[in-house]
Amino acid sequence: MIKKSLLHLIFTLQMFFVYGQVYFPDDSQVVNQRIEEWRNLKFGLFMHWGTYSQWGIIESWSLHPPDAYLRTGPYANNYFEYKKAYEDLQKSFNPTGFEPEKWAIAAKNAGMKYVVFTTKHHDGFCMFDTKETTYKITDPSCPFSNSEKADVTKAIFESFRRHGFWAGAYFSLADWNSDYFWWRKFPMCHANVNYNINEYPERWQKFTEYTHNQIIELMKNYKGLDILWLDGNWARDDGDLKLDTLVKKIREIKNDVIVVDRGSKTKRENYLTAENFVPNETILYPWEVCLCSGGGWSHTPNAVYKTGREGVHLLIDVVSKGGNLLLNIAPGPDGKWQQGAYGLLEAYGDWMKINSEGIYNTRAFAPYREEKICITRKNTGFVYFFYLADEGEDHMPAEILIKSHQPASGANVSLLGYNGKLKWQKEGEGFKVFIPEKVRENPPCAYAWTIKVSEITPMHVQKN
Ligand code: GLC
Repeated sequence: MIKKSLLHLIFTLQMFFVYGQVYFPDDSQVVNQRIEEWRNLKFGLFMHWGTYSQWGIIESWSLHPPDAYLRTGPYANNYFEYKKAYEDLQKSFNPTGFEPEKWAIAAKNAGMKYVVFTTKHHDGFCMFDTKETTYKITDPSCPFSNSEKADVTKAIFESFRRHGFWAGAYFSLADWNSDYFWWRKFPMCHANVNYNINEYPERWQKFTEYTHNQIIELMKNYKGLDILWLDGNWARDDGDLKLDTLVKKIREIKNDVIVVDRGSKTKRENYLTAENFVPNETILYPWEVCLCSGGGWSHTPNAVYKTGREGVHLLIDVVSKGGNLLLNIAPGPDGKWQQGAYGLLEAYGDWMKINSEGIYNTRAFAPYREEKICITRKNTGFVYFFYLADEGEDHMPAEILIKSHQPASGANVSLLGYNGKLKWQKEGEGFKVFIPEKVRENPPCAYAWTIKVSEITPMHVQKN
């Protein structure tokens, strides 16, 4: 017991200093168990999609009054005309090429295991069928409402679930379309609520109910969510949104839903999220990095995607530090992904087919990295050493030196994708692996090669 709380204290201090964040474990065992399962998935798909994709602009932010530089086009100089034109994008949104099944198959082949989709971004446009507003894709004013897949959230979750994915809803707590948040009676000056909540408590109460109702719709009408990913969290600091009560209500619908109230430093933040950067160090609590695969979060015309090598190295880097990677792909206004996204996913797939064993169900293992080698470990005791090939390094080296660990005597040392044991010898505190000539010339995959060791000498094993 004492040991446990001491460990917790050490973790907390480390989190604070390393990452500036703290982690508060949930009270529910069922939820904690689910978080551990989520940590095993390692690789997820993020999607930012909304009416803004028609203009090929950043999601929502051009509505943010201080961000005038983001506004272009005929209405750029008149905020209210601009906002009206932006909101009118609802009337032309018609992504008839929408192909969730194709997305799910491509993401699955890449090795992704969960999806987080923008059901509502800060602009307030609902990509799901809500009873709470007409500013939604299923409203008759939106041409796509005639499609049988008009409720795109439903279609996406159905397709991805069919392929074994967990379904997560990105939901913005801030809502720049709702009169309960940005009241049209007052000017909008910043991202926050634009009226005085103390003066108009009943209006804030309406906003709270509106938010709860929408999230409960998502929970009830979409076969329960696996992850509720809350963004736009400054709204929660503007006033009390009674989120603890909300979490109670949604856990009555599904008792193990993972809640990510980003940056709240509460028990409602079941895992932490780093945005567009990978932390330098191993972090031992549940965490995820969300990153763009090409362009920005939203559809970017002519986006340049990460190369296969960059993508694979990124995944290994994040996983070896104990995190999950949530990689964003932005659908276009036609409802399609760009070719570059498919190309990147194929590169992931080719690599994962050979190496995924060292990715899924692993945890960080100190020292998570030494020079070109990243390390993971399964609770079975298997340890994986990923050799990150440099640009243009297409052949494997004759010898790979690993300084930080040593196989136990009698352990199997192998290379994923190659049938047969590898010769190895002790080298100081570490070991050296010899790669057979024919494998060097013809490696099992590109970008990174994985040495698997069935057992490590006990002196090097530490529990993470
Ligand atoms: C940033 C962007 C926001 C986006 C989010 C994804 O906060 O401002 O628009 O949805 O990243 O994590």
